[in-house]
Amino acid sequence: MYAAFRSIGAYAPEKILSNDELTKMVDTTDEWITKRTGIKERRIAAENETTSDMAVKAAEKAIERSGLNKSDIDMIVVATISPDYFNMPSTATVVAHKMGLDKVTAFDISAACTGFIYVLSVAKAFIESGMKKNVLIVGAEKMSAITDYTDRGTCILFGDGAGAAVISATENKEEAIVDIHTAADGSLGDFLMTPDGGTGNPHKNELKAEASFIQMKGNETFKIAVRTLTNDVVDILKTNNITPNEVTHFVPHQANYRIIKAVGDALKFRDEQVVLTVAKYGNTSGASIPMAINEVYEQGKLKAGDLMLLDAFGGGLTWGSALVPFSPLTK
Ligand code: UT7
Repeated sequence: MYAAFRSIGAYAPEKILSNDELTKMVDTTDEWITKRTGIKERRIAAENETTSDMAVKAAEKAIERSGLNKSDIDMIVVATISPDYFNMPSTATVVAHKMGLDKVTAFDISAACTGFIYVLSVAKAFIESGMKKNVLIVGAEKMSAITDYTDRGTCILFGDGAGAAVISATENKEEAIVDIHTAADGSLGDFLMTPDGGTGNPHKNELKAEASFIQMKGNETFKIAVRTLTNDVVDILKTNNITPNEVTHFVPHQANYRIIKAVGDALKFRDEQVVLTVAKYGNTSGASIPMAINEVYEQGKLKAGDLMLLDAFGGGLTWGSALVPFSPLTK
């Protein structure tokens, strides 16, 4: 049994936070943000809009486009670092309940910006082992809830949103996800972290919102991201005897245009191969790759049989890449 990437869906909240608006909040300029990151604006969820609310909207689209019924889904895995609840219930169980799917396996994965590659690998493994048939994977983040809007080094980067995909069992090897690499290096955990509130640094008294705000060593993370992603992408292509030219869509995690450009140039990808959403959504962490795939899909540029190369890097530190043909049921 193989795992096929059947469909994609995404959701972006309505509210736009522009670079100009950020200049009123911290000491920065539109020019600096544009030049150093490629970001022009990002979306911000409504105050009462949760990560699971966004996840459900993306998931419903993905299921509708898969040609399957909601009841065919037998597992939901959500990648998020901004869950509805700090410890439990998991966002995946909230999503399952909101969608009326009360008898599915449901759990979250915490791998920061690499989250979508990790949940994809989990779906592939469950399907190939014969344990599940139709897995809904989601990357959903309300990054605005864990961002410090007084820190110009991080608040200019992050945005909110969700993306989802349906991964299904197939006996047709041509439809199958080719390969997935996932990795981590915990020795660099302090490059990107929310330091307080867990058992590593427990609260002695009342819980404060600032406790879960992101702290990042931006420049150090940037350098490791470029090096690691380039090596990882070269490696997955080489292992599978695939040339960059055979990749239809290179879909990198949308952290910073300069990182994407450096990796893309190293692989000699043509501009039309590289998917870019960073200008309008910023960095939506685990949601960024499925939101980017959805963009290509909604532009009518994602066709059956197209080969996608996904790659991501984030907190943990974690990273990963995947070679994924788009294999819709209805061709
Ligand atoms: O998605 C998960 C993984 N995360 C990433 O991959 C993020 C990787 N990091 C980055 O994208 C970049 O490092 C940043 C965009 C965060 C920062 O860009 P940079 O080119 O690495 O700048 P830097 O941190 O080396 O800072 C250069 C200067 C500093 O000023 P001084 O010390 O040279 O006077 C910063 O204080 O830029 C200053 N700076 C800013 N200036 C205006 C930092 N943030 C800002 C800002 N506006 N928003």
